[in-house]
Amino acid sequence: MNFLKLFKGAAVAALVAAGPAGWAQAQAPAQAKPNIVIVATGGTIAGAGASSANVNAYQSAVVGVDKLIAAVPELRNVANVRGEQLLQIGSESFNNERWLKLARRVSELLKSNDVDGVVITHGTDTMEETAYLLNLTLKSKKPVVLTGAMRPATALSADGPLNVYNSVIVAASKQAAGLGTLVVMNDEIHSARDVIKTQSLKVETFKSQYGPLGMVVEGEPRFYRAPIRPHTTQSEFDIEQIQSMPETNVVYTYGNMNRTAMDAFIASGTKGLVWAGFGAGSVPDYMDAPLKEARAKGIVLVRTTRLAYGYTVRNGETNDDKNDYVVAEDQTPGKSRILLALAMTKTHDTKELQRIFWKY
Ligand code: SIN
Repeated sequence: MNFLKLFKGAAVAALVAAGPAGWAQAQAPAQAKPNIVIVATGGTIAGAGASSANVNAYQSAVVGVDKLIAAVPELRNVANVRGEQLLQIGSESFNNERWLKLARRVSELLKSNDVDGVVITHGTDTMEETAYLLNLTLKSKKPVVLTGAMRPATALSADGPLNVYNSVIVAASKQAAGLGTLVVMNDEIHSARDVIKTQSLKVETFKSQYGPLGMVVEGEPRFYRAPIRPHTTQSEFDIEQIQSMPETNVVYTYGNMNRTAMDAFIASGTKGLVWAGFGAGSVPDYMDAPLKEARAKGIVLVRTTRLAYGYTVRNGETNDDKNDYVVAEDQTPGKSRILLALAMTKTHDTKELQRIFWKY
């Protein structure tokens, strides 16, 4: 089936059913259904290939939010849905400025009495980082769900439409309130804190070290656990108080590495470095000196592991107390970089930074 044709047909249907305030109206009374805003930012879910057989080669971020919504007419049975095209980018192009723009807009939407939940369509490559930032900085219990797709909108068996449908179901559900930012992909519901992308092509790619929070089964969200670590309303970070985030970077480790990248980061004036170390965050003997030099220049060092899942042991092989380093506990380098940047909007004290890393 040609999905672009389907988009066109469904777009007409959506226009016919459109209500006065731009909400796509349900057949039943509109007030009986929650109001969900879909904020679109691009990614593969908005991608188009030359043919339906192109599932991995395509142009990302070209299909608009109205077409994404129109491709899923079933949404009208779940919620009053309206779309907003905030960005149209591949998610690898998110930077601090675009993250703040997205977080501020979502925060604004959540304050409206007219909005019950937000779904963000997003590229999958940095979805976990965006989700974690929102999880730590939004001040609302209303559901916020990120979703995307591993196959473009034009592909055979495109996964985007079902992911959007499931995400709206979760965002519209009372059970999702107060659970922090969620990622819904491939029928699973994940906490922003724990979810990571684990495979570059497969539809089954988002995993959480401790398992998903739940699943969407036949249009029903089924939750089995809740996040313990503070988020959203209990977090000490508030997007409305954050004007900018300090420059923080990641140093990746590999056998026979050298100090070239470290020296460049030190010279760049970066405020914090996340060390994506071997195993439990190990530091090769010949890299001890550049790390200590960075710390001596006031750069905060956070040790993590380059492994997808893991735990960085404080004062394990490395004497963190003596070197005045911070450890990231079980967090990935990408998410540690986000937490470090947020934490450094408040403090540069390493004891305080370590408290924050233990907490979130
Ligand atoms: C992206 O992250 O924008 C590209 C990859 C994807 O969405 O799956």
